[in-house]
Amino acid sequence: MAEALRVGIAGLGTVGASVARVLRDKAAELTRQCGRDIVVTAVSARDAKRDRGIDLSAAKWFDDPVKLAEKADIDVFVELIGGDEGPARQSVKAALEAGRHVVTANKALLAKHGVALAEIAEKKGVLLNYEAAVAGGIPVIKTMREAMAGNAVTRVFGILNGTCNYILTRMEAEGISFDACLKDAQRLGYAEADPTFDIEGHDTAHKLSILTSLAFGTRIAANDIYMEGISNITQADIRAAGDLGYRIKLLGVAQRTDSGIEQRVHPTMVPTASVIAQVHGVINAVAIETDILGELLLSGPGAGGNATASAVIGDIADIAKSRPGFQHAPVFGWPAKELKPYKKARMRSHAGGYFIRLTVHDRTGVFAAIAKRMADNDISLESIVQQAAGPETQAQKTVILVTHETTEAAVRKAVEGITKDGHLTDKPQVIRIERAE
Ligand SMILES: NC(=O)c1ccc[n+]([C@@H]2O[C@H](COP(=O)([O-])OP(=O)(O)OC[C@H]3O[C@@H](n4cnc5c(N)ncnc54)[C@H](OP(=O)(O)O)[C@@H]3O)[C@@H](O)[C@H]2O)c1
Repeated sequence: MAEALRVGIAGLGTVGASVARVLRDKAAELTRQCGRDIVVTAVSARDAKRDRGIDLSAAKWFDDPVKLAEKADIDVFVELIGGDEGPARQSVKAALEAGRHVVTANKALLAKHGVALAEIAEKKGVLLNYEAAVAGGIPVIKTMREAMAGNAVTRVFGILNGTCNYILTRMEAEGISFDACLKDAQRLGYAEADPTFDIEGHDTAHKLSILTSLAFGTRIAANDIYMEGISNITQADIRAAGDLGYRIKLLGVAQRTDSGIEQRVHPTMVPTASVIAQVHGVINAVAIETDILGELLLSGPGAGGNATASAVIGDIADIAKSRPGFQHAPVFGWPAKELKPYKKARMRSHAGGYFIRLTVHDRTGVFAAIAKRMADNDISLESIVQQAAGPETQAQKTVILVTHETTEAAVRKAVEGITKDGHLTDKPQVIRIERAE
């Protein structure tokens, strides 16, 4: 049998401790599948004394993950610390430069430095595997990088943040407010004490930026993503969406258009009958649309110790099975040096259907004025509905418009005009409608 694969794990928190535990519990199966043992020979975390529920005394302890990456007797460096700079970045870079394979679950690091790290990995002829960085346990990286050769991706979109999907699912199912849902999610451990990163879309954007690069062969451009979070979604939106045959999801969408590539993260209305609309709670899903395959949807657990560990261990097993001298698949599907600059499509050119909810003064002429602003901007309406805004607001009415395909620029101009006309009593709500099978 080949020599054992020696693994060093830096970061022994939720994911790191699960990886160590599964490697121990599944040692016999992994050896059979990989043709060699996989042994944890070195570990690092901040606190050497903390009980992590697993005996790691056989592995050498390093206070400094960079030292582990450079000096330990390892073949693979597994980075599970987190963060886009500091010890995570330094240790991954050090491991690659020392000619060690790297496995990481760190989307923030890849979103910011992925291309530079990929260049080092490819120069050194080692693997940089990161399946767990996007949608946790769902094998989307391998699917896009290896299983879809020859396919030209036209659009990739997904529910990439479990916290947001959990909140939106409960808001719809129980009729409770965003704030109440968020508090509950925090109490149950589904949302961080500071939830901004999740609910304002940053986490989704990091993951999307990696998918965009894989889909279109472009350099990662995480700072060029249009982003709106879910904190302004109300019960009125969720109810109106339901009445119209839609469900609201926070989607990350990357799409090739005539003017460039759209990368956008925002609350989205998807048809209630579509497959992605059936993805509830903390579950994630990624839809990939290609010229040959059509639409493929992968769904499953996007976070959590074991689910994430499953992806990390798949990456480690791939390294255990690889043989010296064998040409590895490029990190982002194309050689890092050949990744094309990202050509951004302007958000104003985005074309699609729109849901617009307006709260207006209940007086004559308002309805006609709204319809005129729409017509002036060449927006054709699929429906326009006027409702009472509620018993406590008798002087107001709600107007809900659904447009046929139009542009973001036209919708913004029309809504600006309506606002200027002085008919609104509250901020207008605009939610994009996404086509989904
Ligand atoms: N949790 C998930 O469900 C999930 C899902 C997908 C991807 N990820 C990614 O996986 C990575 C790890 O996440 P996690 O949830 O496992 O984080 P975590 O529970 O906070 O664990 C982080 C670990 O890193 C260690 N650490 C921090 N600074 C260090 C330093 N300077 N030197 C050495 N060790 C250091 C910590 O040590 P101590 O334990 O001693 O404090 C801890 O063991 C992140 O990149 C995250 O984005 C997580």
